[in-house]
Amino acid sequence: MSNIGSYEQRLEGFDWNIAKQILNWEEGELLNIGHMCSDRICAQGKADKTALIWEGFSGEKRSYTFDEVRVLSNAYAKFLQDQGVKPGDRVCIFMEKIPALYISFLGILKMGGVAQPLFSAFEHDSLEVRLRSAETKAILTTQKHLKKVRKIIDDLPLDTVICVEGNPAKLKGEEIFFNVDEAQRVDQFECFESGPETPSVLHYTSGTTGQPKGAQHVHGSVFGQALTAHWVLDLQDDDIYWCTADPGWVTGTSYGIIGAWALAATNCVLDSGFTSAKWYQFVQENKVTVWYSAPTAIRSLMRDGTDLVKQYDLSSLRHLCSVGEPLNAEAVVWSEEAFGKPFLDTFWQTETGAMMITNYPGMPVKPGSMGKPFPGIEAAVLDLKTNEPITEPGKVGLIAFRPGWPSMFREYRNQHDVYASKFVGAPADATPEQCRTADDVWYVSGDRASIDPDGYFWFVGRDDDVINTGGHLVGPFEIESALIEHEAIAEAAVIGKPDEVNMEVVKACVVLNPGFEFDDMTELSVMNFIRKKLSPLAMPQEIEVKDKLPKTRSGKILRRYLKALEWGEEVGDLSTLEDD
Ligand code: WT7
Repeated sequence: MSNIGSYEQRLEGFDWNIAKQILNWEEGELLNIGHMCSDRICAQGKADKTALIWEGFSGEKRSYTFDEVRVLSNAYAKFLQDQGVKPGDRVCIFMEKIPALYISFLGILKMGGVAQPLFSAFEHDSLEVRLRSAETKAILTTQKHLKKVRKIIDDLPLDTVICVEGNPAKLKGEEIFFNVDEAQRVDQFECFESGPETPSVLHYTSGTTGQPKGAQHVHGSVFGQALTAHWVLDLQDDDIYWCTADPGWVTGTSYGIIGAWALAATNCVLDSGFTSAKWYQFVQENKVTVWYSAPTAIRSLMRDGTDLVKQYDLSSLRHLCSVGEPLNAEAVVWSEEAFGKPFLDTFWQTETGAMMITNYPGMPVKPGSMGKPFPGIEAAVLDLKTNEPITEPGKVGLIAFRPGWPSMFREYRNQHDVYASKFVGAPADATPEQCRTADDVWYVSGDRASIDPDGYFWFVGRDDDVINTGGHLVGPFEIESALIEHEAIAEAAVIGKPDEVNMEVVKACVVLNPGFEFDDMTELSVMNFIRKKLSPLAMPQEIEVKDKLPKTRSGKILRRYLKALEWGEEVGDLSTLEDD
């Protein structure tokens, strides 16, 4: 099938420099992701190769060669420079999965900016929190989303609002219209001289407490992303690759842009709502060969059955991978039946920047297991009490990694203490660099797993209260804070509730303010309140009214108690509970 080598072969004498060889990248060459994903590909004689195949909501189609991506990303880079955006400034990309997103992403990196992609379904509150934290200088968006930006801009240090699609006559105040297709051709652009440690992409991710945290990545991440894309996604020069993730989330940048384009693969994007038929049609029409998707999508396809699969010619598909949530054994078995090959599960996080535990191609698949650590990754599960690596097969502990892989996040923006708290063996006041370089430290992922006698990792669950709905993490704190702003609600605890397709959905347990009844109207009003303030993902699918919420003696709401009740699990140690 390909020349990626067996897992055992790759473990032997592994060195991250292999990534450089695969990219033909030599020390001293410019290390800038924007450049490596466009200019450099053109310089390798692939200027006319298709870089992007795009299909929009109403079926409109466009495709771009690597040379077009090169020239258009130059235009974005120059335009941002002309607007006074400086290297290191955060530039948010806030739009649907339209071509401008993918191309401006490279443009921002080319001029040295830090790309901050945000999910376009975010409403003004979710947007504001992330722009404030990042002290974002400029935002690229579309007319459709301008109203959200207008609502919050007065309170933010955001000085440049650029609209890349829509009607220029609808712009207000100092908003700028920039249509790259009408802009002057920028054939040459001097890229910012970034190096391996220069900040590149800033992704916000939700934690249990506090507001979302900005995981800062660097240009050197490309080596980890490209090598994993080559060895695990098995991306080869002639692949037509479809990563279904939105670049508002890390999969959509690490593998939906960087890994794919650094390897000169043709990247497909379908910017439209999900239906199984539409997805199969897209695979058939574009002859997709490699497909990277998520368990929720796979379970949705599964629900629509194999008969539908048979109506399409999906014979182009040769390799399937999955990420984001536990991939249940049934889904793996079903994919073998439906597509003639299993979806291979991969495990990683926003913080890790690239795949960490994978079903390496060629390795026997144990349905339900995440596979083994990628070559070069030292992974363990740490004892829940002692934090020592567990040697006993099957015993559950915390998934942890030895720092040092290229795509690891370099900090949580302005939250060094939170960064340090993710490392076992690092002092609480350690700088991010000390956390990564100290002897004998582990980065702790926040997930639980066990390792079987063959070295396969089996996911057990998260170690915190973060909710994973359809592969998207949502933080309970962000939703609780918004809920108590609703006039009817006095207190709120947000937990994940089991869901057949999405794995979890958001459930809110609330205490009402005096004088409020919980009828259908109130329920709907609360749901809409969250949807319009945060996002559809954050909207509770169920709201349960309680007389009071379980709390610790110090007044902290015990979500894990509510969650255990919801999942029918043992409630565990309640000695810190306020009262019964
Ligand atoms: C969290 C990270 C990495 C790209 C998308 C998510 C969960 C991720 C798996 C998997 C079980 C998984 C974990 C992890 N997760 N992959 N293969 N099996 N759980 O990035 O938003 O940072 O979420 O997603 O809980 O910590 P993210």
